[in-house]
Amino acid sequence: MREWTREEKYRVLKDPQELWDLYCRTRVSRYRQTFHLQPVTGLMNDPNGFVWHDNEWHLFYQWCPWGAVHGLKYWYHTVSGDLITWKNLGVCLMPGDTYDNRGAYSGSAMPIGDAVYLYYTGNHRDPDWTRHPYTCLAKLRDDGWTEKYPLPLFGAHPDYTEHQRDPKIIVDRKRGKNYIILGAQTKDGHGCALVYGAEDLLHGWHFLGQLKVPGFEDFGDMWECPSIEHIGGKEILMFCPQHLTLPGRGNSRNHNGYIIGTMDWDSLIFTPEGRFHVLDFGFDSYAAECANNIQDESKAVLVAWMGLPDSSYPTDEEDWQGCMTLPRELTIRGRRLIQQPLPLLRQLRQEEIDLRGEELSGTAPLPRACEIELYVRPGDADVDLFCGRDGNGGLTIRYSETQKVITVDRSGMKRRFNTEQGESRARPLPGGLTHLRIFLDHSSCEIFVNDGDAVFTSRVFPEEGEDHFSVRGDAFVRLWTLKPAVRDDFVI
Ligand code: FRU
Repeated sequence: MREWTREEKYRVLKDPQELWDLYCRTRVSRYRQTFHLQPVTGLMNDPNGFVWHDNEWHLFYQWCPWGAVHGLKYWYHTVSGDLITWKNLGVCLMPGDTYDNRGAYSGSAMPIGDAVYLYYTGNHRDPDWTRHPYTCLAKLRDDGWTEKYPLPLFGAHPDYTEHQRDPKIIVDRKRGKNYIILGAQTKDGHGCALVYGAEDLLHGWHFLGQLKVPGFEDFGDMWECPSIEHIGGKEILMFCPQHLTLPGRGNSRNHNGYIIGTMDWDSLIFTPEGRFHVLDFGFDSYAAECANNIQDESKAVLVAWMGLPDSSYPTDEEDWQGCMTLPRELTIRGRRLIQQPLPLLRQLRQEEIDLRGEELSGTAPLPRACEIELYVRPGDADVDLFCGRDGNGGLTIRYSETQKVITVDRSGMKRRFNTEQGESRARPLPGGLTHLRIFLDHSSCEIFVNDGDAVFTSRVFPEEGEDHFSVRGDAFVRLWTLKPAVRDDFVI
């Protein structure tokens, strides 16, 4: 794997033409997605600044232009009218000033008046590489560039380590209060979140305290990308605890999950109503962000990075990495979040493939971008994706009726990666398996189980010959090819 020097990783982008050759090489990769957002070149990680404004969805991403490497991070801007079709607008937040000399790190957005404001982490490093994180503000201009506020809203709190980042802006319209919640690490190495408040969204931010979450004082050593969402009358604390192993997740050490509970903003106590749930049971999902300003308290719209920190992917060899998950609608059912594909996604269905006669005891050709829907009757069920024509290999989904467990196993794929994080993931289904909706793009697989009760999101890099699928069990199966929805234009 390529070794990057610090100079190469942190090289400042001066002229878009510097990226043209890389773009030309990248866009011909067999793993380029057709209905998922992906980096124009280089590496994409967290979704940032997801917000509804002026009849459009804005979604930015953490972007390192030069290759599959976490170097100098920019915010790259994309927009959509419907959350399905997306268009590249180009780089918008440039690092390199005093407070963000080594990166414009993750954050969120909020419309104020008639403009969108971006709250982000300025990653400043001294020449000796000591880090000083700042919470910064920038106004998105109509021409797509940003106007940075000359001074940060606040700097690092001295009682915590240098790991303080990822501001999520929360406006509590009913109580007329504004908050920023920030991921942090205590000096004795525990992950936590910090809360800041201000009367005016643009000025006067001050520290309110550390969020107290009884029972979660020792839960990972850093919490990245925390937020508190309000969905269907409940509060949900979402965050990414790091360097923690969880049962059933191999030695994967970075997770994205949530706790349902009640937030008391006066005491800053978040009282959990249950345990920590992982948001996604698949292999590649992190740094999820819910859109701000969606104007509907019954649901949220969430998007996540289909990737993980400290991990390599097969496209690293092609000098690019990462993509986004499909945006999902979040609602609450009982003590769980339900994640469903957006209803409008059905519009991407192009051609329904007639599976009659294939009799699903054999294999059928698998299009590279498609949706498979299965209505499953009681009993064991197996779905093999990306297997050979002979049915061997691939990624398998197995449901065992006796154990009432669904398992996704990727160990049969020719291209194996991040194997130390485990190659199979399971989720109990006490009520049995009834329904699956599977979305396959050129290098991803998203499996929605039982109408959003569980989701498995994974990158997958099929090689020549890994192009069939089969289904065993009593299931009614439909398959559609899907139209491209995300433009891969060279806009810098
Ligand atoms: C999460 C993260 C954030 C940080 C950003 C930098 O993946 O590490 O905490 O702001 O990525 O790109």
